[in-house]
Formats: sequence, C-alpha cells, structure tokens
Amino acid sequence: MTDSASPTNTQDWYYPSEDVVSNATVKDYGALYNRSINDPEGFWAEQAETLEWYKKWDKVLDSSRAPFYQWYVGGKTNIVLNALDRHVKTFRRNKLALIWEGEPGDTRTYSYFRLWQEVNKFGSVLRSMGVKKGDRVTIYMGRVPELLIAMMACAKVGAVHSVVYGGFSEQALADRIEDAESRVLITQDGAWLRGQIVDLKKVADEAVKRSPVVEHVIVFKRTGHNVHMEPDRDYWWNDLMALPVASVKCETEMMDAEDPLFILYTSGTTGKPKGILHTHGGYSVYTSTTLKWVFDLKEEDRWWCAADPGWITGHSYIVYGPAILGVTSFMYEGAPTHPYPNRWWKLVEHYGINVLYTAPTAIRGLMRFGSTWPNRHDLSSLRLLGSVGEPINPEAWKWYYEVIGKGRCPIMDTWWQTETGGFMITPMPSVALKPGSATRPFPGIDVDVVDDDGNSVKPGEDGLLVIKKPWPGMLRTVYGDADRYVKQYWSKFKDMYLAGDSARKDEDGYIWVIGRIDDVIKVSGYRLGTAEVESGLVSHPAVAEAAAIGIPDELKGNIIYAYCILRDGQTVTSDLEDKLKEHIRHEVGPIAVPAKIEFVKSLPKTRSGKIMRRVLKARAQGLPEGDISTLEE
Ligand code: WT7
Repeated sequence: MTDSASPTNTQDWYYPSEDVVSNATVKDYGALYNRSINDPEGFWAEQAETLEWYKKWDKVLDSSRAPFYQWYVGGKTNIVLNALDRHVKTFRRNKLALIWEGEPGDTRTYSYFRLWQEVNKFGSVLRSMGVKKGDRVTIYMGRVPELLIAMMACAKVGAVHSVVYGGFSEQALADRIEDAESRVLITQDGAWLRGQIVDLKKVADEAVKRSPVVEHVIVFKRTGHNVHMEPDRDYWWNDLMALPVASVKCETEMMDAEDPLFILYTSGTTGKPKGILHTHGGYSVYTSTTLKWVFDLKEEDRWWCAADPGWITGHSYIVYGPAILGVTSFMYEGAPTHPYPNRWWKLVEHYGINVLYTAPTAIRGLMRFGSTWPNRHDLSSLRLLGSVGEPINPEAWKWYYEVIGKGRCPIMDTWWQTETGGFMITPMPSVALKPGSATRPFPGIDVDVVDDDGNSVKPGEDGLLVIKKPWPGMLRTVYGDADRYVKQYWSKFKDMYLAGDSARKDEDGYIWVIGRIDDVIKVSGYRLGTAEVESGLVSHPAVAEAAAIGIPDELKGNIIYAYCILRDGQTVTSDLEDKLKEHIRHEVGPIAVPAKIEFVKSLPKTRSGKIMRRVLKARAQGLPEGDISTLEE
C-alpha cells in the first residue's frame, strides 16, 4: 500500500472561514478540551448546571461499582422536564418545536406549547392503561410527529421506551417485544415510502401473534388504508386522544438521574441484538452539550437531522437533544428521491434549513444522481453539514462539501455509537478538517488507539479504539444481560471501554476510524479496512456504492471480494472489472485489489445504512446467512 493512498494522508486540510469561527460557540477547542480532561467531574458538573433538576446530584460520578458507572447520583430529574416542561414557561412556548412534512406533501407544525400538550395528553392515555414508572413500551412507527409524542409521553410517565425501526421484520419486532416484555405496543396503520404504503400494522399483528406479552396496541392512523383491528386489544390513537382521560394535565414523573429512559436494540457482531440502556440524567446532559457545541445551534436556526428516530441518531438528535436546547427541528417522512431526486434539496430551500445532518450512505445515494438536482435549488441557508454512521469516503465528503455546502459549510463528521449516547469524536465548527477523519475527541472524552495489550500505538499505526474515562452519555448496561455488558465492552481491557472499531491516530492527533474490528480484512498479513477498498471503488466515476469482504484463502489468508452498484447511466462492460482493479491498484495499492468484482443492483444493509458484510460473506461462500433480522427490507 502506498502512503499517499492510505486514509492517514494528512495533506488535505480544510480550514474554517473567519465567519464560521467568529460565530462558533467554542472558539478554542484545545483549551476547552484540556480543562475538561484535567477535571472531568468538574467539567461534567458544570454542563449539568445548565439544565433544570428537581434536585441536584450529591455526587457527579460514582465509580465504586465499575464498569457500572453512575452519574449525577442522588439527582432527581426527568428528561421531559428539560425538553418540554421548562420551555412552556418561557418565550419558547410559542416557538416552533417541530416542522414536519409527509412524503405526499402534507405538513404539520408544533409549537413547544402544542407539543407539550400532546405529550401530556398521550401520557395521560398511557397512565389510564396502567402504564407506570419502569414499564417498557415498544414503539413501531414511521417518521411521523406521533412517534416523538409517544417517546416523550413514555419518558414523562417514567416508562421505558423501546423504539423498533419501522423497516424491521416481524420476527425482529417480536424478539424485541419479548426481550423488553412490553405490555403495550404503539404503531400506525401504514407509513408512506416511495409513494407506497408500508403496512406497519400487518407486521405488528404478526409480531404480536408471536409475542403474547402484548395486551394493548395503539394504532395511529396515517395512511387510512384498511387494517385489521383486534377487539379489546387494538385502539385508534385518535379515539383515545378524544377521551376525557386524555387530560392535558399530566404530571411529570420525578425520576432518579440513573433511572432508565430507553432501551434501543443494536446488532452485535454475533448473537441476538443487545438492548442498549440509557438513563434520564446523564443522557440529558450529554445529548444537549454535544449538540450545542458541535452543531452550534442558534435560537433562530432550523435543524434537520435526516436520520430515522428509530435509531440512536434520531433519539439523541431529533427527539431529545434539540428539544432540550429549545431548537426548531425539521422532520421529513419519506424517501429522499420521491417523487424526484431533488426532494431533499427542495426541502432545504423551502424550509430554510441551516444545519443538515445525515449519513454517508445517503450522500452517496444522492450523489449518484449528479449535481444538477441540488444545483436547481437555493441552498444558501445552509451553514453547517454533518455526517454519521460510517467513515465517509473523501469522494462523498468533497461532493457534500462542494455541491451541497458550496465550499462554505464545514462538515462535522461525528463518530459515535448507540452505546455512547452522543458524539464522541467530532470536529466543532472552529476545528480544521481533514476529509475522512472524525478529527478530535469531544471535551471530556479520553480517546486512544491501542494494541492488543492496551498500549498506545504509534501515530499512523492501526489499533483498537478505546475510551479511557467514563462519560455521562454512556450505556449503563445491556438490558437484562449485565454479563454481556461487561464481556462485550469491559473485558478485553478492564478499565477502558472497547468500542469495537479499529482506528489510527495521525501525527496531528486526528483519529481515522477504519471500521468495525470485524470489517478489517487481513490480506497477506496486511490489515485492510473494507472502507478503504470501498472508498477506492467509489472514487471511480462508474461506481455509486461498493462493499468489500474478506474470503478465506489458503495462500494469502484472505482475498477480497467486492460488490459494486453502478451510477445511473453506467452499464457493465466486459472490461469494467479489469478497469476497476487497475483503479484500485492505483488508488489504494496492489494489496487491496479485489480478486473478484461483482456488479449488483442493491446491497444488504442494516437500518442505519451499514452494509451487512457478514451476509455477503456467507453468500459468497455458500454458507448459512445467520441472523438477518436487522436487514432492512
Ligand atoms: C458504529 C456505531 C451513532 C450513530 C451511528 C450508528 C460506525 C459511526 C462513524 C463515523 C466512522 C462511524 C462505527 C461505530 N461509525 N459514525 N463518523 N466515522 N465510523 O450507530 O449503529 O451504533 O454504529 O458506526 O463503526 O462503531 P451504531
């Protein structure tokens, strides 16, 4: 592999403009970071002071039962106290909390006052059904405002929500309902996607058949198509909200800082999904602090996190973080390309979006249609852009930066995980960027790259990404499986959190995340990130998206198989495979040249857009595909 092709290439610096720096809340990252690391407890106490508490904490951090760390011990709060209750007492009562557009083009808006009222009403409904503090409620919905309302209503009455992404199959939903033992399921008749109805109720019915724990199903009517309603089990959302029990008076349950707020299931490397558990106190502090500094949201901004609320990005940065900060959020129901590939850019223009946060997979998906679509629209309202979910390949980074941001908007490439609750490695607007690097750790976060023995590796060498200090937004456990929590994250190294990613730190201290540990292919002794091969392929003009996997090989240990989706208008020619191999040879190095390249129309992906290489690997070798419950349909 040649040095210039490796992702630790440090030649490409992007410096923020004077304008961006002068507007940034954090102007001196270095000073802030040093202060935070020298006195983490003081630092995290200071951040917690910016929120309201029923009762302040006695102790910021209790490590006595590590790795079961506890934050803000003795503190009393509820995330809704900060996300809604306090706003209705200020000018924010009349401010837009949410602007929503459905795929067919219908729109709805909620002021903080109205959102608070709806949450109160739905909280009252839940209480009338016997839902109380500590009960688990499963939510299986599309991107509609009622999803937010349902989540916040659960939090308000002290119930623990478990949101299952609307793209999951019935078995995945059933497994998650069973694991959480939810008596109540909240769903909707259908969701609009690409002009079609996704029949969520049908999937929910199947899942409930397999999960007898469910006693009540609440169904929000979105599409109005004909669905089966089981007597004495299923109730329409609107009917319930019209009942006298749906009172706007709904007392917020006073929670311990460490009481559970939600469970969110995430696929592990093996075995069944893990229920990642987050709490009211630390998570409130962490999501709001990270969002405030990284995306620099101003009172007048319109923020669009284009993720699905059904994964952690949506939980932290559509639902809770923005509401705690009193920000105006935009949410869109449907597909980015419906009815035309300009839909997102039209939305940015129409709603005057200031900050857009999305995933590399979405960027590549839209890049495939070319620049004409975004160029038709006025995108001048944009000030900052964001990326999350996987390493962003420099090709997509540059398109996002040049075509969408017009070279004016810094890209916040945020590395984090379901487990971390919020951004961990990320730039802030005043930090110089290198495309493909998530840059530096967030204040209070002690990141390192270590070898198998836990020793820091030299700059430029790859190793395991670890976090050396606890942080308020960290997961507290795997729901119902404390052993798995310890085993997965705290057993390789006793006092460092193992993220499960491999990474490099360059000479400037910038972190380059290579990918999951299991996404690293060893070819003739060299470790190659699947992302490196994929970036190489995608940088070829014919390729829109690529996936690389390692296939066991007697001689080399592993060889690389690659799968490519071509850009619109490109066709498979007899010499294309050879051309791409030659391209990779030049872009990444001879070691990275795939033994075989296959052209496909789609790739197996998880809900968060990550390619399921495990599935490709099994297919390529004719082996069983294993658990594919997290495969997006
Ligand atoms: C894994 C976590 C937090 C929401 C995203 C999905 C990868 C995430 C980045 C990034 C490189 C990234 C890591 C991580 N990842 N963001 N900016 N650069 N890799 O959360 O499903 O829990 O996945 O996503 O591999 O471990 P998740």
